[in-house]
Amino acid sequence: MPFMRGLRIVGGNRLSGTIAAHGAKNAVLPILAATVLCSRSEIKNCPDLSDVAVSCHILRHLGFAVERAGDTLTVTREDTGCRDVPPEWMRAMRSSILFLGGMLARCGSVTLCPPGGCALGGRPIDLHLSALRQMGAVITEEGDTLRCTAPGGLHGAAVRLPYPSVGATENLLIAAAGTPAETKITGAAAEPEITDLMAYLRACGALIESRPDGAILVQGREALTGCCHTILPDRIEAATYLAAAAITGGKVTVYASPEHLAAPLAALRRMGCRITTGEQSITLIAPERLQGAGNIVTLPYPGFPTDLQAIFMALAAAAEGYTAFTETVFPRRWAHVEELRRLGADITVAGSHAVIRGAPLIGSALTCTDLRAGAAVVLAALAARGESTVTAISHIERGYADFVPTLRHLGADICLTEV
Ligand code: EPZ
Repeated sequence: MPFMRGLRIVGGNRLSGTIAAHGAKNAVLPILAATVLCSRSEIKNCPDLSDVAVSCHILRHLGFAVERAGDTLTVTREDTGCRDVPPEWMRAMRSSILFLGGMLARCGSVTLCPPGGCALGGRPIDLHLSALRQMGAVITEEGDTLRCTAPGGLHGAAVRLPYPSVGATENLLIAAAGTPAETKITGAAAEPEITDLMAYLRACGALIESRPDGAILVQGREALTGCCHTILPDRIEAATYLAAAAITGGKVTVYASPEHLAAPLAALRRMGCRITTGEQSITLIAPERLQGAGNIVTLPYPGFPTDLQAIFMALAAAAEGYTAFTETVFPRRWAHVEELRRLGADITVAGSHAVIRGAPLIGSALTCTDLRAGAAVVLAALAARGESTVTAISHIERGYADFVPTLRHLGADICLTEV
């Protein structure tokens, strides 16, 4: 068995210090997909992530020049490019499906296959396809290939999403911004990353009105100019490092928006953490021992984010008392449970519910099953007694830039190794 890159962790250190969250992965990916509508865009505060690299490969294949200078990506249209996204890049991440809306609006055709992404239970794209079909897209499914065209161009529509799907909302917004007509979206998701995408599209020339009732009105344009846009801080990354301080009895300040983390901060307070906030900063002081958080139900924003469920389950595993999770967004998002059990976690799962009773954690050999599950097992290992190893860390590198250096900066005994 060839050596694989992994992590070696010795638990017990209290984490403390100050860090700034990188640009949000789940904002930069839809915005890079939206750049296909424009002639030139400058995207600042872009994290250096493998998923961002995949987006850059796709953009170059579609006829765009992509240059990185520090944390700024410049995307410039060069030639007509190809009108397909190769399967290996479609399957590399979920966000590759977000090129569908922009390519249909800009050039009226694209061939692709269903996207990849973290294995969280089924990840269909029916809501994406149904929404774009209501704008005039003709999408035929031939085996694993989706041939998508917009004969005569896309047209405006009044689309109601039956579920506030983040990705379907983003695909629809991108398609509508590049279509010279009015499109009304109801039932849309309202995550901060979607607000950031709308800010980018507005700056590129699309007229987008967010109504108090949640409806979104888009007046798109045939040719959008592009703009210079700075990606908002990553709230999930910020909460991950706050959780690292919480589980190790430390103290951390993170520069990110507390408004975007209201539900997770409330749970951390229930667990005994002292939290103070500034306009764009959050400081957490952990108790000697965390308490159970009671009930946590994952919901679309502003509810508790499903992306923090695994990470908060790690906290609950180390806490005193009980925490119960109800996972309503991805009801089978439990791949991390088996790994946490290897550390001694006491977890019972039934359908979309899980109950955790805190227990002493002992170091073990662990693996990452998906991006947030990987972060969760690392946090649990930081609190466990003794040494742990973690494999398949490429999952973590999809969503956390400088993960190991940042944890070492905060005082963790963690290093890359061959396992
Ligand atoms: C985005 O995924 C995020 N990914 C996910 O973060 C996040 O967990 C999720 O939103 C929910 O907040 C990115 O932004 C790149 P959805 P997405 O469409 O768009 C069902 C991470 O760790 N659904 O809101 O795929 C779906 O199966 C990742 O950073 C359909 O049934 O999420 C799920 O049950 C993981 N049909 C629910 O809706 C569809 O066509 C929510 O999915 C689309 C979705």
